Amino acid sequence: MPKQLIKIDVKAVKADPVKLKVDCLALGIHSDAKPTPLLKKLDTLLDGAITRLKKIGDFKASAGSSVFLYTHGKIAAERVLLLGMGEKKKKTPDTVRQAASKAAFEAVNVKAKTLAIVRHNETKIDSVRLGRVIAESFHFGGYRYDEFVTQKENGRANSLSAYIVAANMTDVRKMNQGIKIGQTVGKAQNFARTLCNRPGSILYPAQFAAEARKVAASVKGLSCTILDEKKLAQKKMGGILAVGRGAANKPRMIILKYSPRGRKKVSSLALVGKAITFDTGGISLKPSADMHEMKYDMTGGAAVLMAMQVVAKLKLPVEVFGIICAAENKPDGASFLPGDIIKTAGGRTIEVLNTDAEGRLVLADGLEQARQLKCKTVIDIATLTGACVVALGKHKAGLFSSDEKLAQKLEAASADSGEPVWRLPYEQEYIDEIKGRIADLKNTGGKWGGACTAAAFLGEFAKGLSWAHLDIAGKMDASEPMKKYADSGSVGFGVRLLTSFIMNEVF
Ligand code: BES
Ligand code: MN
Ligand code: ZN
Repeated sequence: MPKQLIKIDVKAVKADPVKLKVDCLALGIHSDAKPTPLLKKLDTLLDGAITRLKKIGDFKASAGSSVFLYTHGKIAAERVLLLGMGEKKKKTPDTVRQAASKAAFEAVNVKAKTLAIVRHNETKIDSVRLGRVIAESFHFGGYRYDEFVTQKENGRANSLSAYIVAANMTDVRKMNQGIKIGQTVGKAQNFARTLCNRPGSILYPAQFAAEARKVAASVKGLSCTILDEKKLAQKKMGGILAVGRGAANKPRMIILKYSPRGRKKVSSLALVGKAITFDTGGISLKPSADMHEMKYDMTGGAAVLMAMQVVAKLKLPVEVFGIICAAENKPDGASFLPGDIIKTAGGRTIEVLNTDAEGRLVLADGLEQARQLKCKTVIDIATLTGACVVALGKHKAGLFSSDEKLAQKLEAASADSGEPVWRLPYEQEYIDEIKGRIADLKNTGGKWGGACTAAAFLGEFAKGLSWAHLDIAGKMDASEPMKKYADSGSVGFGVRLLTSFIMNEVF
């Protein structure tokens, strides 16, 4: 059995920061702000260490920087961690996210078991929100994927108890309210990361389904139905079946349903996730360099599963379906072939020009399933195209939509959650590129604009629905700047975005 990952717990407390006995006392600092009373007090107690640090120029409080000070028993905490937050006027909600994430990341690096962050700067940000943001970030930065590390010395303690220090009890109460949400989201996001980080041979479709069952069983109001190959065949789901045909590990469609108790506030919503547990490309085989990263090709599915858990745990008053299309794309004697014509659940035929454009084929059946469940709003999330990474780099996910209002709501949720998206076009020119001649559609477009033609393809299966598509190919693992404040590997993108979207719908 793989070993337990780090356990993280967050709560708000009222305390005197200098009397707090923790392994690490963290404070965010702006490069251009006057020292706060707490900073002055600490400086005095630490014999001018902070003034000296500034003087010799080792810490300029630029955004993303940090430095440890050792307290030698002069205050109760073992270490002080100063977190640079850059210029005050340039502060965004992400500044706080990154600083809090960095605090947990560095704390775990020094094997700290306890961490406290102090709210000592004046901020306009509401305490409930701040509690949520910091809790999410502590989970984000403190996470380490090391299930298979067998050495004892793996650079971390088994748990991290993290605190947010507030000045009064009103603040403590408000923050704890936000922390409750933030912990639920943070833990869910970290489990999504674990699912994504697990090797393809361990987390294959049936295993993903088993994990989904466990998640559903762990919370009230969430049901889970699994369609195996036989059921998929009965439902004529030719897309997911074709993609999974070459693998010994057969495909599964996982259908989660969350039914709230009492009145529903908005119409039913479906989240549809691509979960290719490993994408070799199939007969249109990918080059071997970096192919191991294709174990992350189930990031969309993991985001859907864990967003469903959050919705159920927070008992949100909305009916939500989670549809996860899980398959392994592998070359074999039984594999589907370039040139094959397949028929999807909705009856449409597709000429397969490239077996590596498999995500859209499994999602075609997933979208049809959402339609059959009578969902009016459908959001799909998928590590769909390398072209999207070419377009936006690893900094933003692509957002496509047939509904202006839905797109705006997702952009708002993106700003709230700190999971960046950028709007890309869903328009007729791209749709024309994937129209077929010997079948209804082709699974690839022309040479250019691959993210847009892939979106156009999916749009064909979402006609008449309020639909949005998130291409998260660039966001499946940590980008270069993110590795300074979070573990490398999966970042569980989408859990915060999707849950923020749903929370905004109902609150
Ligand atoms: N899973 C990949 C997309 C991907 C690429 C995600 C790089 C993350 C990083 C997808 O299934 C794929 O292979 N897409 C092809 C489509 C092409 C054959 C039209 C691609 O992007 O090359
Ligand atoms: Mn592929
Ligand atoms: Zn893929």
